[in-house]
Amino acid sequence: MIKISPSILSADFANLARDIERIASADYVHVDVMDGLFVPNLTIGIPVVKAIRPTTALPLDVHLMIDRPVRYVEQFCDAGADIVTCHVEADTEEHTREALAKVHAKGKRAGVVLKPKTPAEAALPFLDDCDIVLVMTVEPGFGGQSFMADMMPKVAQIRKWIDERGLDCELEVDGGVGLKTRDACVEAGANVLVAGSAVYGAEDIPARIRALRG
Ligand code: DX5
Ligand code: ZN
Repeated sequence: MIKISPSILSADFANLARDIERIASADYVHVDVMDGLFVPNLTIGIPVVKAIRPTTALPLDVHLMIDRPVRYVEQFCDAGADIVTCHVEADTEEHTREALAKVHAKGKRAGVVLKPKTPAEAALPFLDDCDIVLVMTVEPGFGGQSFMADMMPKVAQIRKWIDERGLDCELEVDGGVGLKTRDACVEAGANVLVAGSAVYGAEDIPARIRALRG
């Protein structure tokens, strides 16, 4: 089954609880954390994860677009994150491994994220230890960008490795995913679709979530 993880980056931050309630029929809540260093934008952090935790029963899918995330992963877990993903570009292999282990030690799900210019192979050293791999289909930093269809071979390659190894690992795509682009993602092997503007820009949010799930 395809899972939908709406990105609250496209929500109304002055009405976050209301906008999270509006996506109650989704599978995850995607939380985009940016530090103004790893990406050229600043968004939300640990106190906001903590504040939204009691507002929803859905798992919080926390996408850390921050430099050296190993410094903060435990605090995100304690704040209520259920899934924590770290960019492989944000630190050394050793530290990324340490970050995954710290999330697992907290009893939460952990994964790695690849930016568009990062090859599929960059996920390989971590694959056996990941509950999820996230392939960016835009340059991280902002919502509402155009989908990069040329990322689909990367998704397909990672799907192949997951299946060959029989891993219990989800494969997520993030950026520019909407009604016109969801099929390509699913055909390439993604099973979790992040969608910000495609969900929050819809007149009927539950209907849009159903349509994206397919
Ligand atoms: C981009 C973020 C995405 C973004 C998706 O850096 O990681 O999650 O909010 O937004 P849309 O779906 O509008 O591209
Ligand atoms: Zn994201």
